[in-house]
Parts: sequence; structure tokens; C-alpha cells
Amino acid sequence: MNIMAKQVYNDYFFDEPAWNTHDGGYVPLEEPTTPQQKLHVPAVLQPDKETATDMYYTVTAQEGESQLLPGPKTKTWGYNGSLLGKTIIFKRGKKIHITLKNDLHELTTFHWHGLNVPGPYIDGGCHAPVYPGESSDIEFVCNQPAATLWLHAHPCPSTAQQVWHGLATPVVVQDEDEAKLPLPRNYGVDDFPLVLQDRNFHEDNQWDYQADYDPDGVQGKTPMINGTINPYVDVTTQRVRLRVLDGANRREFRLHFSDGLEFAQIASDGGILPEPVYFTKVMMTCAERDEFIVDFGKYHDGDEVALMSDDVALVHFRIHAFAKDDTKLPDHLVDIPELPVTPGSETRHVIMSGMDEEVAIDGKKFNMQRIDARQKVGDVVLWDITNTNDMVGGMIHPFHIHGTQFLVVSRNRHAPYPNERGWKDTVSVNPDEHVQIKVRFEYTGVYMYHCHIIEHEDGGMMAQIESYDPEHPKTYKLMDMDTLMNAFAKENHVDPKDLWLGGMGSYEKMGMKM
Ligand code: C2O
Ligand code: CU
Ligand code: CU
Repeated sequence: MNIMAKQVYNDYFFDEPAWNTHDGGYVPLEEPTTPQQKLHVPAVLQPDKETATDMYYTVTAQEGESQLLPGPKTKTWGYNGSLLGKTIIFKRGKKIHITLKNDLHELTTFHWHGLNVPGPYIDGGCHAPVYPGESSDIEFVCNQPAATLWLHAHPCPSTAQQVWHGLATPVVVQDEDEAKLPLPRNYGVDDFPLVLQDRNFHEDNQWDYQADYDPDGVQGKTPMINGTINPYVDVTTQRVRLRVLDGANRREFRLHFSDGLEFAQIASDGGILPEPVYFTKVMMTCAERDEFIVDFGKYHDGDEVALMSDDVALVHFRIHAFAKDDTKLPDHLVDIPELPVTPGSETRHVIMSGMDEEVAIDGKKFNMQRIDARQKVGDVVLWDITNTNDMVGGMIHPFHIHGTQFLVVSRNRHAPYPNERGWKDTVSVNPDEHVQIKVRFEYTGVYMYHCHIIEHEDGGMMAQIESYDPEHPKTYKLMDMDTLMNAFAKENHVDPKDLWLGGMGSYEKMGMKM
């Protein structure tokens, strides 16, 4: 038998100087000094009702308190719980009905990041507010490959603040192709979601978004994983699957194990990769999801190894006795279609520029009522996305499109990173780089696209595209900023002129109206 040497990458899959030249506001992580706590594994959200073809759920945004540190509890927000939320599992092919309930004191929206659904209302961006005490019903057919997606709040320009309070939760799509692969999938036993975030704790263990505000993205020095500070996981099987989400507002995570353990990536944002990618280090930027298989076969009962970002431990893995499981990952996992570009379609150029309050897309700030681009539904169009920040002090902008999964074609005309050969909905664009992707919308609708440093998005580094069907033209009722701002002011009992929302300053400083 001719066994080809397996390739193991030892670089981070990104442009190293790009993150070494952080802006002045960069906050490094610090290891928590509080005792280790068992990682919180979110429960699975149970359906209200289920038939052979349909699933019914209620998702409630609510406020609560969480014991994060010793001492006073922290005021937090979550979905069907006090912080983050339950894991929502959709089976491919089912019709999904969801009641979206808002028990917060202010408006919110429910955005299904990574789900192929019609925009802009089901998609849940800024055009679909649910006011406090109210609810709204959506339905869609789940028809996309198995993947780890997420749900998060998306009201403009307060997305960053609401996500910071805790409105983010994992969504898992399951399908038959994934079910056939030899992968761990016993949820909570050998298959764990890991939502990576960071927070600062102020007086009485509280979060203070406004005090920590930075137009280039709010950061905290304390890592928080699934809402647990300084977590450990009990490892009871040789192989473990980690569904990792960079759920931070601004932070990149540069992941590796404390002893350099090799691990494999088997899925990216939108599903399983064509083949596993083996490495010792990988970087994730905001909103990206990577699924990893970690083989703990060389450890023994009582050992411990940590998943790190830079020199700070994020999760401690405590090894216990486990049954031997030398299952190898197949060389080939799934087929990814070619997606040929539609003949005659013109390349779409998108320019992300600026930092701080000056961030913009194509020189403009987001306007909720302006449709910036149009693309025919079903067409495959090449998008060329440029980050004009230069290397010195520039930032990586993670570029995201709603309502679709795309394929990465190239980075500065070179091949994409080996772990970018599958479906993605968010791609990091390094300073001074242009990334080409192939984009197709399956449904008509208005969809947002933006930098996923959430404060950049709130600050206007966002635009929207209409996916249209020339045979069936549609018009959309698009929300306007005054309506949302006045509602926020009223709900928070302040005069509209005294209202503070993170992204507002970016418009005001540039002398623009939202
Ligand atoms: Cu995570 Cu506009 O989305
Ligand atoms: Cu999204
Ligand atoms: Cu950005």
C-alpha cells in the first residue's frame, strides 16, 4: 500500500504581519485568576411540536443574571436562558416554524447567520424588529448542508451592544451526508459547541459596554467560552469534535494547543470541507465557524492539555480514561460543487476602507433605505473584496454576506488557505489584500453585507444587495433609522437626543445621517 505523507500545516492561515500591527486600542487576553469551572454546554432547544415534516420552536430573547465570577452575579441577556442560549438543531429538509419572542425592555431582531433564507425579514437583519413584549412568526424550509451556524441580534446600530449583552447562540444543521461520516456527534459527550468571546468585568462583576466602547471593536481581557470563565471539559472519549464560533465583537483567536497537539479541521462556516486539513495552529476571525476533530489518543487518565489563543488558555481539557478509538478521518469528506460563474456577469468590486469612525464600504456608510447593489437570483457572480487598510496599523476586516454560502476563489490572486475550500459566509480580508469569492443567492430578498467586527458594522461598514427575479419584481418595506432610534429612546426612557448607541458616533463624527 502506498501511504502518502499527510500534510500538517504549522502556520496560522493568515497574513502574520497583519495581526502584529494592531491599532493602539488592542487589548491582549489575560488568563483568569478565578478557579476553573466546568464548561457550560448549552442544552438543545426542544421543539414545541414536531411532525414528520415540520418543526415548531419558540425562541425568546430575555434578560437575566449569570454567576460568571465569584461574588455578585452579572446582568446578562440570552435566548431561552439568561446568557447566550440553547443550541438550535435543524434537520435538512424540514419546514421550520419559529415564534420569535421579545421579553427584553428594548427592540431586537433575530438574525440567522449562515442560513440560506429569504431576506430581509426571515433573515432577521435590521428590517425585522420585534418590539418589547411582542412576538413575530417566521417559517422557512431548511435546505442546506450540515453546518454550524448561529443566531444573533442585529438591530442597527445596536447589534454590537446586544451581542455583547449575550444575544448569540449556536445553530446546527444536520443532514444525511454528514451522518454517514465517521465523526463524533454525541452532543455534550464528544461533540461540543465552543462560543469564543471576551469580556471586561467592572464594579460588582458587571459588564459596561459604553465604558469599554471602541469604534474599532469592543474587547475584553477575560476570555469567556460558552459563557463560562476559565472552563474545563472532561474528556471521556478519544476523539472530540469542537464546533468553534468566534463570537467576539472584534477579537481574532489564534488557536493552538498548549503542547502543540496536531488537530484537524473538518468543516468551515457553511459545512463539511472536501477534505480534512491538519494543523497545529489556526486563526479565526469574527463570526467564522470551524469544526475541529481533536484526537486525544496519546494522553492518559489525569493528563491536561489546554486550547490556547496566543499565550492564554481558553479551555482546559481534563483527560479521563477512554475506550480506544483509532478511527481515521477519510481523505475525502464531501463533494463541493464547482459553481461556475454565470457567463456575462460582471465582477462586483467591494471596497472596505477606514478604521475608527471612518469605516465605510465603497466610500459610503450604511443607509437602511438604500439598496446598494442588485444581483439576479440564481446567478453566480464573482465578487472582489478589497481591504484598503495598509499594513501599518491596518486591521483585518472579516467580510460577511447574509442569506448565502459562498466559495473563496483567491487571495491576492493566490490560492485561498487550505481550510477555505468549503462553503463560507464570512471571510477575513487582510490589510492591503483583495479576496475573490463566488456568490449565488438562492432566494430573492434584500441582504446585508458587511465587516463582522460588529462595531464596524454598526459604524456603517455595511451595505445591502437585492437578489431579484426579473420575472417577478418585488418591492420591500425597508426600516428607517429614525423609527428605530426613536423606539430605542422611548424603550430606554431617554430623550432621543440623549440616546447613546455605539455606532451613532461614527455617523456623527463623519457629519452623516444614519
Ligand atoms: Cu452575523 Cu449581519 O451578521
Ligand atoms: Cu449574517
Ligand atoms: Cu472592519
